[in-house]
Amino acid sequence: AMRQVDPRRAEAGHWALILLVVQNSALVMIMHHSRNGPTEQGPRYLASTAVLLVEAIKLSASLVFATYDICRSHPSSSISNILLLLRRSVFAPDSWKLILPAALYTLQNSLVYAAISNLDAVTFQVTYQLKILTTVLFSILLLGTSISSRQWAALVLLTFGVALVQVAGPIGNEGWKDRLTSLIQGDLLLEALEAPASGAVKGLLAVLSAAVISGLTCVYFEKLVKDSLATVSLWTRNIQLSFFSLFPALFVGVLWQDGAAIARDGFFAGYKPIVWLTIALQAIGGLIVAVCIAYAGNVAKNFAASLSIVVSYAATALLFRTPMTWPATGGAATVIVAMYLYNGRQMSRTSLLPTSKDS
Ligand code: C5P
Repeated sequence: AMRQVDPRRAEAGHWALILLVVQNSALVMIMHHSRNGPTEQGPRYLASTAVLLVEAIKLSASLVFATYDICRSHPSSSISNILLLLRRSVFAPDSWKLILPAALYTLQNSLVYAAISNLDAVTFQVTYQLKILTTVLFSILLLGTSISSRQWAALVLLTFGVALVQVAGPIGNEGWKDRLTSLIQGDLLLEALEAPASGAVKGLLAVLSAAVISGLTCVYFEKLVKDSLATVSLWTRNIQLSFFSLFPALFVGVLWQDGAAIARDGFFAGYKPIVWLTIALQAIGGLIVAVCIAYAGNVAKNFAASLSIVVSYAATALLFRTPMTWPATGGAATVIVAMYLYNGRQMSRTSLLPTSKDS
């Protein structure tokens, strides 16, 4: 069934896509800068504590936004009445539906950490781009999205272009030729076949599962939110999602995995300003992703994320004077071409990003 897109929501989705490009580019560049910046001694911060803090920040922000929504629709309500309405909407009978995506997102986030610690950054990021294709597959299966063959070609081009920018881009600008040839010759695959229990195999399995879970969870969340947007606001859904994410983040991550280290070194061991900045950017990113998924759709969200990789490639070259390479620049051009190809004639004049027409 065709859903009527509320123009105010479409507008919000549009801005969220642009914000996602900016936020993602900032995150990529800060991580690049922190890796190349002065290295200090001391313990590394624990990923599980960062994950928990990100969820806590998202939960607090969603609570503020949801309260604001209720205040606007019930202007003369008392504070206790507003709190009652808030409690009723958050603990609605169908809030259990968020348990599955909360568990899957937590699993996805920890698989990403496992993949990063077993693979080099470029292999990880290139393989993780497969989530562009898994998202489309699940959109077809769960949302009934129809994709033309031109759009399929555009998506494959997009995946290829993003991967090329990652391989030959600024993340490790030395030795990109070696990396590209070893990727083409399948060295990693060979290593994986020769030593099935190696870190490479674990890393590859982790990133492949993360890509599949990303597609499934994002599409599930999109369907859930869109199906009930008339009665349940996006911020209520986000409160429910963050609430259920707190449990695995606290009990599995912080207490079970890292409990001993935290008891020894403290919760905030290794926290530096750059860690706080990354946590803040990740929390803001999660909120922006939520708006993108709900009001613009997952395919558009992935296009925005891909565009941010191109933007950060160009910006890093300008700001940090990392050399540009032909394959990376070709990959960047491929991403732009893929965007036009995907949208065909319906490309919005004001933006390169896909419109929400396909959802
Ligand atoms: O890589 P991918 O696009 O699948 O990442 C989605 C990210 O957005 C996850 O880290 C997830 O925690 C976050 N998210 C969120 N709130 C939502 C939906 C996704 O914070 N409503």
